[in-house]
Amino acid sequence: MRIGFIGAGKVGFTLGKYFATHGKEVTGYYSRNTSSSSEAAEFTGTSVFETIEELVGSNDVIFLTVPDGSITSVYEQVIQYPVEGKFICHCSGALASKDAFPGIRDHGAFGYSVHPLFAVSDKYKAYEELADVFFAVEGDEEHIGEIEGMMRDLWLRYQRIDSSAKTGYHCAAAMVSNLMVGLIGQGVDILKGCGFSEDDAISAIGPLVRGNVHHILEDGLAPSLTGPLERGDAGTLRKHLDVLAGDKDKQDLYTILSKSILPIAKKKHPERDYSEIEELLGE
Ligand SMILES: NC(=O)c1ccc[n+]([C@@H]2O[C@H](COP(=O)([O-])OP(=O)(O)OC[C@H]3O[C@@H](n4cnc5c(N)ncnc54)[C@H](OP(=O)(O)O)[C@@H]3O)[C@@H](O)[C@H]2O)c1
Repeated sequence: MRIGFIGAGKVGFTLGKYFATHGKEVTGYYSRNTSSSSEAAEFTGTSVFETIEELVGSNDVIFLTVPDGSITSVYEQVIQYPVEGKFICHCSGALASKDAFPGIRDHGAFGYSVHPLFAVSDKYKAYEELADVFFAVEGDEEHIGEIEGMMRDLWLRYQRIDSSAKTGYHCAAAMVSNLMVGLIGQGVDILKGCGFSEDDAISAIGPLVRGNVHHILEDGLAPSLTGPLERGDAGTLRKHLDVLAGDKDKQDLYTILSKSILPIAKKKHPERDYSEIEELLGE
């Protein structure tokens, strides 16, 4: 299958390079600015398409690696040309293919979302890390097996998800990445109240955060859970909640997250009595 990209940005560069270096026939790029498509074509050893028509005519699989807000308008340009039998893919985590590509079957094409669960920051280097990245694949049932086959050929890990699960999937990704910034920010804020500068606070928590994330990823949630709640130490939990009494948001956050780890602690230590903690958390 010949693969072409519309949108020569971070993801277009990264997928194009990975695909081209793992045996796929990547023909090249069309982008809003020819300077971007030329740079991507040079990086991947492929060609520049001067028009969408030319790109559509030359490819079986068309990746729309444009910002989320432009996917549907670019798709509408793509379907001005014959697309029968072609696969049209986007890489947004938030959009289901049926919403991104309205009426695609009327044009005889098949729509998919192929989302890398990964933050691409360096468009020249990210392809080197792609082998570890997990993809969510979603879209038209009729040919999804071929998209999955392409992922397997590329040695890429993937999970097929239902279009109705797309928003939940994206929400989970935001929780463990973007919202992690918020959680760590709240801890840093408390440390600033204890006299740390922001830089010192971030540096101080480094081993704790890195160790914890490493442990979760290596061993799972339950084995990584430590701390006063896991020990059943209601007295310390009460002191923590008291110290946050002047900041309702932080106190609520602490309570909600404590509630979410309580079942893990209870399952891990069925012999321990967590009733005082349950009462404290309003369970
Ligand atoms: N970046 C990430 O970490 C990441 C991770 C997972 C998924 N994604 C998804 O991947 C997709 C692309 O994101 P990105 O980060 O690669 O964005 P990006 O770096 O901003 O690149 C988007 C590219 O699309 C081109 N473009 C914009 N509007 C266009 C149009 N109307 N016609 C043709 N080309 C157009 C831009 O072209 P010019 O340069 O020519 O102006 C730009 O190079 C999005 O759906 C995003 O949600 C991104």
